[in-house]
Amino acid sequence: MIGTSIETAAAYLRNNEVVAIPTETVYGLAGNAFSEDAVKKIYAIKNRPLSNPLIVHTDSIEKVRNLVSTFPVIAEKLASVFWPGPLTIILQKSALIPAVTTAQQDSVAIRIPNHPVTLRLLGELDFPLAAPSANRFAYISPVNAQAVMEMLGTSIPYILDGGSCKQGIESTIVSVENEKVFINRPGVITKEQIENTLSTSISVPTHSAIAHPGMFKKHYSPKTPMILTEDISETVAQLGDLKIAVLSFYNSYPHLTVNKKVVLSPNADMLEAAHHLYDALYTLDKSGFDIIIAEKFPQNGIGTAINDRLMKASEPF
Ligand code: TXA
Ligand code: MG
Repeated sequence: MIGTSIETAAAYLRNNEVVAIPTETVYGLAGNAFSEDAVKKIYAIKNRPLSNPLIVHTDSIEKVRNLVSTFPVIAEKLASVFWPGPLTIILQKSALIPAVTTAQQDSVAIRIPNHPVTLRLLGELDFPLAAPSANRFAYISPVNAQAVMEMLGTSIPYILDGGSCKQGIESTIVSVENEKVFINRPGVITKEQIENTLSTSISVPTHSAIAHPGMFKKHYSPKTPMILTEDISETVAQLGDLKIAVLSFYNSYPHLTVNKKVVLSPNADMLEAAHHLYDALYTLDKSGFDIIIAEKFPQNGIGTAINDRLMKASEPF
């Protein structure tokens, strides 16, 4: 059931039930992060391997201190600038977090989301919320309550409706090791923003020494086959007779004849494109095309995060 009652959501959560919650990035599938029972339900509902750890959400930096064993200065700096917001920081966990929440790892991914409804909900609870994106494993993340309903409606008792997600793609994930910051997953908080905040340059390792078991290649995928290309016209020409949908950044390709064209941001605004990305993919996926041809974004700023999602969505099954 979809509703707007924070009290109803809180009651289910106190009872170790799993509910969907809105965040500024994507909807989350939330349960008590301190409860093994609740966390196991999250994995089961999502059909997610137990080896893929969950993000723990809370509503204040003071509460974060109880969840971690150390809080490096550099991480505190990022937290003070970007929280509440779409940044997840991986830190060493405290004993309060059960092993199942972090997939047996000593580290825990933490974030203070920037959504008024979920911040109020977190304020009413005396435990943090473990919440992966509210999709089934490897499918597109939902960015509105209706999409959650269609994906998981029969498996959960309540979807807390907070409208459509402002940012539209998952948080930037960083880890801190030996006073160095690594980007584990790009997001709308860019490498450049993090570098400016810390006055240092950071690198995005192609294969880092850091374990990030959730970075499966195939992810965020529609069921419709998808191709990512730098040259839409050429790819369309090669594919001839298929029922084709084209997903582009700002160019509407007026001279192309295909079955459907979706432009993510006519003004070439990457923030707007990110906001529309999953909704566009989800809608196209339900419309019965043979193939979705997506345009590669400029590989800078938020474009890095959009390309990451498009690349993973277009991996073959
Ligand atoms: O924006 C978001 O981050 C959304 C909203 C709901 O907060 N959540 C989200 O969660 O995207 P999820 O589970 O779909 O993606 C979290 C990623 C996974 O790839 C997981 O492997 C990684 O974070 N992760 C979680 N804990 C980790 C840890 N301790 N060490 C390394 N990676 C971790
Ligand atoms: Mg996810």
